[in-house]
Formats: sequence, structure tokens, C-alpha cells
Amino acid sequence: MALELGRRLGNLVGPARKRFFDDDFNWDTYTKDKYGPQQKQLDATHDLRLDERVYFDREAGRLETGDAKLHPNSKTLYEAIGILDVKSTLEVGCGGGDHVRNLQALYPEMQVNGGDRSQEQLKFLRMRNPEIADRTFLQDITMPLSLQWPRVELVYSQAVIMHIKTAVTHLNALANMFNLAAKYVVLMENYGCHPFVEDIKRLHRGGHLDWDQINFHVHHHDGNPYCLVVAREPCSLPVLEDYDALPNATKRRY
Ligand SMILES: C[S@@+](CC[C@H](N)C(=O)[O-])C[C@H]1O[C@@H](n2cnc3c(N)ncnc32)[C@H](O)[C@@H]1O
Repeated sequence: MALELGRRLGNLVGPARKRFFDDDFNWDTYTKDKYGPQQKQLDATHDLRLDERVYFDREAGRLETGDAKLHPNSKTLYEAIGILDVKSTLEVGCGGGDHVRNLQALYPEMQVNGGDRSQEQLKFLRMRNPEIADRTFLQDITMPLSLQWPRVELVYSQAVIMHIKTAVTHLNALANMFNLAAKYVVLMENYGCHPFVEDIKRLHRGGHLDWDQINFHVHHHDGNPYCLVVAREPCSLPVLEDYDALPNATKRRY
């Protein structure tokens, strides 16, 4: 009896709680422990901040990269956003701000925005990408929808929702992303971390999304489906045919 009680208490407050209820990282210490070192490593192997070698060819609907070494996630994300040709974007969990900065460089007319829940990440962003710092703000996307958050045409995330695993908070985050977006939600995530399409359909059926329709599309990298694009109206990108063809979708972690 005492042992069982101890075990149950352990589940609530001990290390087991982390396993069952917490996100992948402690976002308060994340910059120092994980993100900073990881950016340093990636900086050595990739061009994380773009220069004039990289541009979007509107006629071809293609991101030209020259000899720049872009991470496939970045290339696919920036190209999809170019094809969708939107006037405004919001990055959820913008971290050090490279994507916000790169989109502003690629698409100077676009109104870019970035939110992150971590003050430390935003401090890092102000040092790394000061030119877009005034377009960024503190935002916990798992909180109830705020009237102060910007409404934009396209909301995207890159490697954020996949790490949010506390109870149903990733569902709150997804619902908020849709309710802030007039036209598109783009998820550049590990598709094995949550059943993203099923979750979005469930949110839509339950009336959590202020969208009358949802249309699932993909953008390809190297001929394969790589990035999930959800559109209010059907768009020019290929329709999603098989969720399991997206990266890591079959390596289920939920
Ligand atoms: C893996 S990093 C990715 C950062 C950036 N998207 C990139 O690709 O460089 C995850 C980011 O999500 C942020 N984040 C985690 N949970 C969040 C939440 N609930 N609301 C907003 N941002 C969050 C973290 O602070 C961190 O900056």
C-alpha cells in the first residue's frame, strides 16, 4: 500500500513525471544547454544566414541556392513560402531568428514576425539577428489565443511543435496557429512526433479551428514529400496523399 502510494506520488513529482508529461527540453535552460551549441555546430557545416547567392526565382517557382549550403528544412520552407506568395508571416518558436531574418532578406515586401516563449532565446536573437529583433515578441503558443498576437496570412513552425509534449498543449498550439492564420499553416516538423494530420482533423471536427475547410498539401525536397502545408483554400502545391511518406512519419514517437 505504502509502496503503491509512493509510486503514484513519484509519477506526479519525480523523474517519471518528466517522462510522461513534459516537453522534450527545459525551455528556460535550452539556449545555453542545447540551442547555442547546436547553432555553433550547424554554422560550421551550413549557411544558416543567407546572402545574395540565394534568391527566389518567381517564374520558375524555385529557390536558387548557388553554392550556398542550405539545410533541406530551410530550403523547403523558404521555397514553399515563396510559392504561396503571402504578404505576412509569423514564425512560432523563432529561436535565434535566422528564419525570420532569411525570409525578410528573400522577400523584402513581406511583413515578417516571430514569437518565442523563452526570454533567453529572444536575447540570443537580439545578438544574432538584430535587424529583425523589432519584429519579434514573447509568445507562448500553448496559452489561450491572445488578442495581442499578430494575425497574418501564413503561420509556420520549424522544429517546435514536435518537442511540445505536455498533456494536450501541442493541440492548443496547433489550434492557435490556425486561428492566427488567414490562409496557410506550414509545419516543418518531425512527423513521427505527433500524428499531425489526424490531430488537425480532430481539432477541425471539434470546432477548435476558425477555418471552414482544411486542405492538406506538401512541398517536396529532392522529389519526395518533405513539408506539410495546410491551406484554407486548395493551393498549387501537391495534395498530401500519404502521411507516412513525410520524413520520420513511420518512426512513431507518440
Ligand atoms: C528547436 S528550437 C527551434 C527554433 C527555430 N524555429 C529554428 O528552427 O532555429 C525550438 C524553439 O521553440 C521555442 N518554444 C518551445 N515551446 C514553445 C511555446 N510553447 N511557445 C513558443 N515557443 C516555444 C523554444 O524556446 C525554442 O526557441
